[in-house]
Amino acid sequence: TMKKTVVLGVSGGIAAFKAAQLTSNLIKKGYDVEVIMTQNATEFITPLTFESLTKHNVMVSTFEKVADRSVKHISIAHRADIFVLVPATANVIAKIVHGLADDMLTTTFLAADCPKVICPAMNTGMYENPVTQKNLEAAKALGYELVEPEVGYLACGDTGKGKLADITHIEECICRILETTGLLRGKRVLVTAGPTREALDPVRFISNHSSGKMGYEIARAARDMGADVTLISGPVQLNVPHGVRVVQVVSAQDMFEAVQQEYADCDIIIKAAAVGDYRAQKTEENKIKKQGEFLEITFVKNPDILAWLGEHRVSNQIICGFAMETEHLLEHAAEKLNRKNCDMIVANNLHEQGAGFQGDTNVVTLLQKNHTETLDLMSKYEVGVEILTRLAALSKERGEA
Ligand code: CTP
Repeated sequence: TMKKTVVLGVSGGIAAFKAAQLTSNLIKKGYDVEVIMTQNATEFITPLTFESLTKHNVMVSTFEKVADRSVKHISIAHRADIFVLVPATANVIAKIVHGLADDMLTTTFLAADCPKVICPAMNTGMYENPVTQKNLEAAKALGYELVEPEVGYLACGDTGKGKLADITHIEECICRILETTGLLRGKRVLVTAGPTREALDPVRFISNHSSGKMGYEIARAARDMGADVTLISGPVQLNVPHGVRVVQVVSAQDMFEAVQQEYADCDIIIKAAAVGDYRAQKTEENKIKKQGEFLEITFVKNPDILAWLGEHRVSNQIICGFAMETEHLLEHAAEKLNRKNCDMIVANNLHEQGAGFQGDTNVVTLLQKNHTETLDLMSKYEVGVEILTRLAALSKERGEA
């Protein structure tokens, strides 16, 4: 098979020297690495360092003469399997999120249509400046992967956030993306996410603490892995990942109807939503006025969407549910796997450090019929990749069986 190409964009910060170690590590892993530097970066580290490691010319100017007269930034952009900015300065981040292309690095970045990873490194003041934070949010919304800088002692003498992430961490991120892109190409993935709201009257509802983050990160990971993704979402405060189709719903009943509309031609269905189990038997037409000491509301059961999918599963479809428990996690999760006729249950332990509703990380146990494994603490995005990698394998097996 052809070597995969990593395009490394090096911009002008003191952390530029660390890009040399990363280059060396990637070459040893068997990747082809093309380095593009900004003019400023060449003040910190010489192109010769990278040329010696990669055996390719380092590109700095857009107007260098090339032997075969091809348009260099376009041909590199086409060959890129991944584009990584290490380090990414505040200036380069600002440029790329606004589509500026005034040198070889930013021009090639704009031309490339591949997964993109941004590894910021800068002074704390620059990092924390709301302008930079806004640009980083914009980068995320555009679907770029951010490898967050760390807190540490910075070259300028300050201590704070802005230190380039650990090289091994950046390397893992690159390898994970290169190994998983394309794993879901041609597959249709349906994800449900967020809470549902069950109205009591025109102004009140009952709901739960689900932030929707886990489901949204699964959707984003599925997109990055090449799937055609539909997200059915309850009310949440999150940006829909670029390229993902979304159906907004409010109640469990709405979600059920949306799922019934969408499920039939999906290869993989992941029910990360925290669906309300009950709704008020009667939604009052007018606001409930306060009266005596007690208020009684009768609730009736909502349809169990996951169980319905388990019963109506279309041939070769893979179904994955979630279980969030505060006690007897694995027993309950195993029981759900069976009762709801799923292929996998992702079990969340609410009491685990780093797990739960609002955070960006999770600790989960994946239960399949004959196999149970607990993943380490990782970002919800990485949890998404791990789940999807296994579901892709199941889908492939079932397709071949
Ligand atoms: N689920 C669903 N529809 C419901 C309730 C739950 O599709 N009405 C799905 C969730 O999306 C999740 C899984 O079922 O994937 C587990 O939800 P949970 O509420 O923990 O399971 P229940 O079967 O409701 O069990 P219990 O309330 O006993 O914990």
